[in-house]
Amino acid sequence: MRVKIVGSAAGGGFPQWNCNYYLSRAARAGTIGVWPRTQSSLAVSADGLGWVLFNTSPDIRQQIASTPELQPQLGDGPRNTPIRAVVLTNADVDHIAGLLSLREREPFAIYATERVLSTLQANSIFNVLDAAIVPRRQLMEGEEIELADAEDRQIGIRILPFSVPGKVALYLEDAARPENNYGSESGDTIAVRIASNDDCHTAFYIPGCARIDPGLRQRLAGADCLFFDGTLYTDDEMLLAGVGPKTGQRMGHLAMSGRDGSISQLADVPIGRRIFVHINNTNPVLDESSVEHETVRAAGWEIGHDGMEIEL
Ligand code: MLT
Ligand code: MN
Repeated sequence: MRVKIVGSAAGGGFPQWNCNYYLSRAARAGTIGVWPRTQSSLAVSADGLGWVLFNTSPDIRQQIASTPELQPQLGDGPRNTPIRAVVLTNADVDHIAGLLSLREREPFAIYATERVLSTLQANSIFNVLDAAIVPRRQLMEGEEIELADAEDRQIGIRILPFSVPGKVALYLEDAARPENNYGSESGDTIAVRIASNDDCHTAFYIPGCARIDPGLRQRLAGADCLFFDGTLYTDDEMLLAGVGPKTGQRMGHLAMSGRDGSISQLADVPIGRRIFVHINNTNPVLDESSVEHETVRAAGWEIGHDGMEIEL
């Protein structure tokens, strides 16, 4: 199974269009070790020919342009794509807006929970993807399925979707229900266990997660590779940077550092490779010369970057 990080930044990308924080400024200036990153997406293939995209970011056009595996293949007709299916882990803008760029009557299948499918359904702009050509298929939490392309041919990849603590997309929040996590429900944020049909290697893709509970620790034990929510280094980092009023917890994201952070909470869970993705433009680990970057690496984690490839 081949896994490629297509985009490693959180919503907004890095640098973000309006961000004047020192990190975005350094990335814009071309500073060595502060590399730009596109928004959150992962590509997986069992045979190196057909690919499954986990989330479709607003940067998808640029991402395809810089990823030969996702480009039209010679000899496959005047228009074609090796993208066989798209799996959505939530309805965030950074994860679904790329669907709009995949219009052009090219067949692939969309997989998402009922909650996320209902958002596509409610926003008629997504009808640019004709459901007769791009079927929408419902993921059931806790049910492992084999992914298939638009014509129901198997892709060689199976996934197990399951709910993780998180939040409904920002634009779907119910402001009247803060005590109910702003109207979040099960299925708003899922994690996926990914495996190929041919071997027993497993990867987990969890770009959004608010808390690590015993159930999640148990699921992750023994995984070959984990791609995990690396939005923030510290929970209040966006406030301290002066870029926004929200903590990570308020946004449904767990910080890397601290007693309750992901590094500490997963320290004793046996996992082959642990890689942070969905990294926000305020996270100091984006600077390879930072103490935080060094700390994360010393704790056994890798910082995902665009184009990073993992063979399992
Ligand atoms: C998130 O991951 O919290 C969202 O992508 C934030 C956003 O919509 O910008
Ligand atoms: Mn996001």
